[in-house]
Amino acid sequence: MNSTNFDVKDLKLAPEGKKKIERGSNSKGNHDVKDLDLASEGRKKIEWAGQQMPVLRLISGEFKKKKPFAGLTIGACLHVTSETANLMMALHAGGAEVYLCASNPLSTQDSVAASLVADFGISVFAVHGEDNKTYYRHIDAVLAKKPQITMDDGADLVSTIHKKLKIQISNVKSGGKLLNIYNIMKDWEFLGSSEETTTGVIRLKAMEKDGALQIPVVAVNDSDTKHLFDNRYGTGQSTIDGILRATNILLAGKRVVVCGYGWCGRGIAGKMRGMGAMVTVVEVDPVKALEAVMDGFLVDRIGKAAKYGELFVTATGDKNVISLENLKRMNGGAIVANSGHFNVEFDYDGLVKFAKGRKILRNNLEEFLLPDGKKIYVLGEGRLVNLVAAEGHPAEVMDMSFANQALAALHFVRNRGKLKAKVYRLPKSIDTRVARLKLKAMKVRFDSLTLEQRKYLSSWQEGT
Ligand code: NAI
Repeated sequence: MNSTNFDVKDLKLAPEGKKKIERGSNSKGNHDVKDLDLASEGRKKIEWAGQQMPVLRLISGEFKKKKPFAGLTIGACLHVTSETANLMMALHAGGAEVYLCASNPLSTQDSVAASLVADFGISVFAVHGEDNKTYYRHIDAVLAKKPQITMDDGADLVSTIHKKLKIQISNVKSGGKLLNIYNIMKDWEFLGSSEETTTGVIRLKAMEKDGALQIPVVAVNDSDTKHLFDNRYGTGQSTIDGILRATNILLAGKRVVVCGYGWCGRGIAGKMRGMGAMVTVVEVDPVKALEAVMDGFLVDRIGKAAKYGELFVTATGDKNVISLENLKRMNGGAIVANSGHFNVEFDYDGLVKFAKGRKILRNNLEEFLLPDGKKIYVLGEGRLVNLVAAEGHPAEVMDMSFANQALAALHFVRNRGKLKAKVYRLPKSIDTRVARLKLKAMKVRFDSLTLEQRKYLSSWQEGT
C-alpha cells in the first residue's frame, strides 16, 4: 500500500465503541521502566484515555490500514502519560518501530510505561523521579535507534541531536562550512521532528535564526487546534487539578497571582476566577496586559503582587519571573507553583539555598522555613504542576494535540526529501479537519456559508 494515498481530507469519524486493544510483544527487551508488574493498572488508564480520544482513534484506524510508517523508526520524548500511550500506539499501528522517553523526569506514569512495554511492544525508557543523568541516558537510548522521525515536548531530542552533530562537525574537515545532517550521518535518513510545546518552539526558532538548525521541524504547538485548546483549556484545568491534589486548599476567596497571560496563563486565570479566586495577572507584554485588564483582572507588577498574593502560578516560558527577592517578599503561608515547561520560572534553587529548613508535608508539597521564621510552600519542586502533581491535560484535549502530532509524522513521510532545515507550521487544512472531526465527535452542529455569502465575502464590489 502506498503511504501517500492517506489524506487527512478523507478522514471520517469512526463509529463509536470500545477500542480493541491488541497485545504486543517487546521481544527485544528494549526498555527501562520501573516495574512491568504495573502493566495491568496502566493498561486500564490507557484504555480509558483512548475512549476520550475519538479523533486520534480515527487516525489510528487509518494508520493501521495503510501502514504509512512501515520500515520507519519514530523516537519520541514526551510526557509518558496515558494520552501519549495512545499516540504511540497509533504510530505503532501505522507500522513504525516506536521508542519513547520522558520529556520531564517527574511526569512519567510508571504504570503506563509498563503497559506500553508489556502489552503493546513499545520500547519505553522512563522512570518516574529519574535523576538528570538517567534522563539524558534515556534520551540517548532513543537516539541510538536512529529514528527517522522524532517528536519532542521541549526540544530535548532535537537539541541533543544538534549537540552530537556539533561534536561530529568539529571532527569533519569541511572547508569551515557546516555540513548538513544527511552528509554527516549517512546511514541516518532524518525526515523531520515535530514539537509539542511553546518553549520547544521558541528554542527551535532561535536555532533557525542562528543558522544552527540542521533538520526540518514542524511546530505542532502553532496549530490552532493545539495551542488554543491544549494550552488554554488543558493547562487551565489541569493546573488547578495539580494544585488541589498537592494541597487540598480552598480557591474561593484566595488571592491568586498568575504570571503570564499567554495561552496557558489566560486559561489558568480564567479557571481560577471560575473557582471564586481573586486573580491578579503579571505580564510584560503591554497588549496581553491590556487584554487581562479588559478581561476584568487586576494587573500588577510582581514586586507588588508578591506582597499580597496567597497562591502564585507561573506560566511564561521565561526564567526567574519570580526572583528570590520576590519570594522573600511573600507573606508566610504563600504557595508557589509553576506550569511553564522548565523549572526555572521561579528561583527554586535560590530558595533551597536561602531557606533555614525544608520538609515535605504531602506529596508534591514542600515547606521552606525562611531565616525570619516565615514559611513558604512550593509545589512539585517548581516543575509543571499539572503533570507532576496531577495527570496532565484531560484526554479530550490531548486528542486534538496528538491528532496533530500523528498527522505531522505523516506530513514528514509524504514530504520525504522535500523539506528544508526550517521550522514549519502544519497546513491550515489539517487544523480545519481536526476541528471538524472534534465537533462531530462532540455532536456539535455548526453552520456553513451559503453560496451567496461566499460570493459576498470574496467580492469587493458589493457593500452598500
Ligand atoms: P505564550 O507565549 O502564549 O505566553 C507566555 C506569556 O508570558 C507571554 O504573554 C509573555 O509576555 C509572558 N511573559 C514572559 N516573560 C514574563 C515575565 N517575566 N513576567 C510576566 N509575564 C511574562 O506561551 P504559552 O503557550 O502560554 O506557554 C507558557 C509556558 O507553558 C511555556 O513554557 C510552554 O511550553 C508551557 N506549557 C505548559 C503546558 C503544561 O502542560 N503545563 C502546556 C502547554 C504549554
